[in-house]
Amino acid sequence: MRIPRKLEHVHYALQLGQSGKQGFSDIKLIHNCIPEASTELITLQTSIGELNLSSPIIVNAMTGGAQETEEINRDLAVAARETGIAMAVGSQMSALKNPEVASSYKVVREMNPSGLVFGNLGSEATVEQALRAVDMLQADALQIHLNVMQELIMPEGDRDFRGMLERIASIADKVGVPVIVKEVGFGMAKESALALLETGVAAIDVGGYGGTNFAAIENARRKQPMEWLNDWGCSTAVALLESAEALKESRHNGRQIALIGSGGIQGSLEVVKALALGASAVGIAGAFLRTLRTEGVDALISQIGHMHRELKLVMTALGAPTVAQLWNAPVVLSGETAQWCSARGIN
Ligand code: FNR
Repeated sequence: MRIPRKLEHVHYALQLGQSGKQGFSDIKLIHNCIPEASTELITLQTSIGELNLSSPIIVNAMTGGAQETEEINRDLAVAARETGIAMAVGSQMSALKNPEVASSYKVVREMNPSGLVFGNLGSEATVEQALRAVDMLQADALQIHLNVMQELIMPEGDRDFRGMLERIASIADKVGVPVIVKEVGFGMAKESALALLETGVAAIDVGGYGGTNFAAIENARRKQPMEWLNDWGCSTAVALLESAEALKESRHNGRQIALIGSGGIQGSLEVVKALALGASAVGIAGAFLRTLRTEGVDALISQIGHMHRELKLVMTALGAPTVAQLWNAPVVLSGETAQWCSARGIN
């Protein structure tokens, strides 16, 4: 019997791992030896549109749609509930087409009735599908993922990507909850971010290169792999700098639109660096999946709690008691990230 695609994604995400080339080694935070801060007074609260989050860490979209993925979603939801963090489910399109598998998504709301749960669909979705996806979970927000390169590498993937911006704008207008538009690991450049900022979305998740690699995953599934595409995309650090520049240039400089950093974030230092580059929150997928599958749900709960404590320590050292104050923390860029920014006129 053929293994469902969703399970293959879990399998290959774990087997292939992460390159770690998300660009954060090129970002240096500057130590503040006289911080006007106390760990007791640090708050991790942040916001995405109208949503208030008690932590900037989000369990990013992964799965649903098959029996084994229901167990993964149940455990992720328990970890999110116990640590008070927001969680997204994987693409719900399979449940919209086949209601029998809806329980593998609904389990997330059942396990976490009062937590923040984000729905997820691709940019091919219609307004009607978006409404049904939100309704399925009583979702607090809806993620719309952009995965052009992943589709192109899949032999059975989409080939026609016209009309994405219009569909995203209609969904943002009609769905009634904040919409987060997200890449899945190929990154977002300023030009794309500028266009997306005009669609009425509440947040953009830059989903950069350097973490879970969907080019490599789809190539591992293909009979005739196109491995020359495995390094496609821009790093998470670059994607954040590009998107922050778009925010500066756009009429949304007042920042009603949030940036989310994701792609290869595994530890607290990477979280802080993403926030210092202008993110309001970070999404973590592969690293949490690995802990869950190798060590179990209690280990995942401890890992997230540990990260929260570490974040508070580093924010104290930087003299930045809130996430928004971290945006002003000075950083020095080096290496390929600095070269990229200079070539692109980003400062
Ligand atoms: C994903 N990701 C994802 N994203 C999305 O928007 N819809 C989806 O259905 C999925 N499915 C999925 C399955 C698995 C097994 C993984 C590991 C990831 C992408 C995910 O949300 C994220 O954008 C990337 O994985 C990059 O982040 P990490 O994994 O490097 O932290």
